[in-house]
Amino acid sequence: MPGKLITFEGCEGSGKSTQSNNLYNYLKRRGLPVIHIREPGGTKIGEQIRQILLNPQNKTMTPLCETLLYMAARRELVESAIEPALKQHKIVICDRFLDSTRVYQGYGLGVAMKLIEDVGRLATKGIEPDLTVFLGLPVEIGFKRVGSVKDRIEQRSKAYHRRVRKGYLNLAKRFPSRIKIIKVDNDKNKTQEKIRKLVEGLCLSGR
Ligand code: TMP
Repeated sequence: MPGKLITFEGCEGSGKSTQSNNLYNYLKRRGLPVIHIREPGGTKIGEQIRQILLNPQNKTMTPLCETLLYMAARRELVESAIEPALKQHKIVICDRFLDSTRVYQGYGLGVAMKLIEDVGRLATKGIEPDLTVFLGLPVEIGFKRVGSVKDRIEQRSKAYHRRVRKGYLNLAKRFPSRIKIIKVDNDKNKTQEKIRKLVEGLCLSGR
């Protein structure tokens, strides 16, 4: 059974890390070889880049600097964790991947999509997710779920985050067989059930 890359995407407060963590524990309990990582981060250097990116004091960072830092952290993660795990036929669950750059820096900040695709291919070594779970939730509801201490990206305006959400919806149309929209339910378990159904077909048959 070849390795599989499952990515989680969503706007602020969509519950990505809770849901991806639940999925990780579920697959692990079933005895499957699975790892769970996040972007930006997941490596020693990536976590340091994350600090720079999310630090609210870095107000003057240019959109291109921001884009390239996310890409640098991604390349580090791909080389040191994602690619080796896939070669070992593992299931890789990753919170965020290139789609986040497409929407947060592309749709959100207006960075050219061609540049994102070109540098993105370098950063990911051309690895694409087998499945992307997009947790869909209106921006206003997500905002209420974010705590009062906001990072540099969370501090951006609602208009910015609406562009991000619109970007995700456009991407879901562009990649309909890969990106699946899961409507976030008030009941976390119900959301998880929907995710597990998607993953069953992809990862569990034949293992
Ligand atoms: P999170 O781990 O809480 O989702 O925080 C990561 C933040 O970084 C989140 O606000 C989304 C943002 N982000 C981008 O803007 N571009 C990217 O490429 C990635 C991976 C994340």
